[in-house]
Parts: sequence; structure tokens; C-alpha cells
Amino acid sequence: MTDSRIPTARLGENGPEVGVQGLGCMGMSFAYGPADEKESRATLERALELGVTLYDTADAYGEGENERFLSPFFRAHRDEVVIATKFALAVPPDDPTRRIIRNDAPYIRQSVDASLARLDVDVIDLYYMHRRDVNVPIEESVGVMADLVREGKVKQLGLSEVTASELRAAQEVHPIAAVQSEWSLFSRDIEDQVVPAARELGVTLVAYSPLGRGFLTGSFADADQDLTADDFRRQQPRFTGGNAAANAALLEPVRAVAAAHGATPGQIALAWVQQRSRAHGLPVVPIPGTRKPSRVEENTAAVALALTEEELALLEPIAGKVAGDRYPDMRFTSAGRE
Ligand SMILES: NC(=O)c1ccc[n+]([C@@H]2O[C@H](COP(=O)([O-])OP(=O)(O)OC[C@H]3O[C@@H](n4cnc5c(N)ncnc54)[C@H](OP(=O)(O)O)[C@@H]3O)[C@@H](O)[C@H]2O)c1
Repeated sequence: MTDSRIPTARLGENGPEVGVQGLGCMGMSFAYGPADEKESRATLERALELGVTLYDTADAYGEGENERFLSPFFRAHRDEVVIATKFALAVPPDDPTRRIIRNDAPYIRQSVDASLARLDVDVIDLYYMHRRDVNVPIEESVGVMADLVREGKVKQLGLSEVTASELRAAQEVHPIAAVQSEWSLFSRDIEDQVVPAARELGVTLVAYSPLGRGFLTGSFADADQDLTADDFRRQQPRFTGGNAAANAALLEPVRAVAAAHGATPGQIALAWVQQRSRAHGLPVVPIPGTRKPSRVEENTAAVALALTEEELALLEPIAGKVAGDRYPDMRFTSAGRE
């Protein structure tokens, strides 16, 4: 324990207190090019020292590989960490390269048991529905998730990329501790409906991709040129072709604010997400993803940065100017169904 531990926020009305910034672990096994295992493990340990306690994974990250990778760390620190994992992105038997969304009861039951086995723990602290299958009533799926709580397999429930009305329907069945959605200087669609509903219902907002998948840090400017062939970001409309160049130009005010604070653009992006908590009156826990201890230090230091009203005004117009959707198929997002 050191004095540099970050403050905490609560997950939902009855959930655990977690460090106000979590750690996205997806890139350690999946989606963002090759990872160095030793460096990733050092990142997990450094994050914990700094007060990061919410660790985010999913069964879909490398088809279980990310959960398996995290298991030794979780077991070594079981009482200090809050384990969040997810179900719903299934591999269809006829085509292992595709993903389909499943929210049906047998699938949820088989998924939770598989995640518990890979993580090698007795209980999952926060279990999310990763994506919404509109063919299954959400009340039915959340009813099964509530059974998992009663059975002691999971402690708290979460939903990812749900609309405000889906969240309200779910909350009628069982308290929802957290909604996880993309939220960053580039992606603010949830502020219209999802965030107000979460505030009203006492649900914590877990902000994924708060660094715009790295783009807001300036660590890459054009996915086709700067990233490896298997990198998921090469499929995302914002980071390729003419959109990438137009969007890179939007980072100018982020750089200007960063210079004024002696900070990095990534820290300003994280401080901005954190300050959404005050702007919208609900707990917000960003979960930036990194595989490097030095970056986890940089990212957690952003918790202490306060942006002025003038700086916020400078950053305000950015999202409205972003070129390209945040997913190739926007039905994967709440905004695509609202
Ligand atoms: N619910 C969902 O549907 C969903 C979707 C996407 C992600 N997520 C979760 O949210 C987490 C975070 O989102 P994300 O990883 O997509 O995006 P992100 O946190 O916005 O950005 C991650 C990228 O930024 C780089 N990065 C991190 N800190 C940096 C720094 N200080 N300076 C320069 N570059 C830095 C990382 O590279 P290095 O790793 O090389 O440091 C990585 O490429 C994921 O890990 C995952 O757990 C959930």
C-alpha cells in the first residue's frame, strides 16, 4: 500500500468499492497486436499497487485465453481484486471466424461455468451481458443472471452497450451494478439517454475505450499504416483512410490542454472521462487498457488532473466532428438500437 493509491467509487448501490480507474485487460490476449506476457503481468501488479482493483475481461477475448491468462494474478490477489467478465459473443459451430450474439438461458449457464473454470475462482464479482440479442427478452436473460447470483456463481450484474429502455427493463428484474459502454472524447452517444437512466437507477457507468482505443494518445494515427495486419482497429471506420487523417487533426485542442498541464494527451482524455462523473452526477469508472507498467502509472496519475471550465469548453466540440462510426456495424452498440 502506498499513498499514491487512487480514490474509489462504488459499483451500483450495493456493489463493492473499486479504484475509480479500472484496468482493461483485453489487449493482453486479443485484438491489439502482439503482447509481451511478462510485461502484461508486471502491468497487472503495478496497477494493483496504485489502487486499481477492477479488472475487466470477457470470455470472448481470445476465446477464453484472456481469462486463463489472468487467472494466476486473480488467485494470488483474490481478496484485493474485483473480477469483471462477460458472456454473449459466441462462436458459431459452422464458422469459427464469426461471432454471433447469444443471450439464451442454456448459453448463459454454460458460459458462466466455463468462465469460472478458466478463471479458476469460486465466484465472479461482476458478470456482464456483453451484447444484447434482441431476439431474447432482456427480462428473461437477466432472470437467468439473477439466478446465478442466488446460486453464488456471481455477485453483481452488469450490462454492456444496452439502451436506456433495456436497462430499465433489466433493473425491474434484478439490480444492475454497472453499465459498460464506450465513452470518450470521441464517443459520447450514451450521454443522451443511457447516462441519465443510469444516474436515475443508481447504476455506475464503466467507460470502455476511454482512450479512443489508443487514438487519443497519439500512439497511432492511421491503423492501416501503423498497426499490424491482425489488429482489430484496422476494421474500425474511424482509424483508416481519410477518416483517420481528419480525426487526427481533432487532437489539437487535446494537445494544447495537455501542454498547459504538463500532461500527456492520453491523461487529458482520461481526466475528461473522469470529470463526466461530476457533469452527469453518477459514478464513472474508466477502464483504459494497457500492457505496460509505465502507462498504467501515467493513466492512474490522470485521476488527479482537474480540467477547468475553459478547457472543458475547448474539448466540448470534438466528438461532434469525429468522422466515421465507432463500429463497422452499429447494431453492436446501444446507439444503433435507440
Ligand atoms: N464492453 C465492450 O464491448 C468493450 C469493447 C472494447 C473494450 N472493452 C474493455 O475496455 C478496455 C479498454 O478499452 P480499449 O483497450 O479498447 O481502449 P483504450 O483503453 O481506449 O485504449 C487502449 C489502447 O491505448 C494504448 N494505451 C494505453 N495507455 C496508453 C498511454 N498512456 N499512452 C499511449 N498509449 C496507451 C494501449 O496500448 P498498450 O496496451 O500497448 O499500452 C491500447 O492500444 C478493454 O481492455 C476491454 O477490457 C470492452
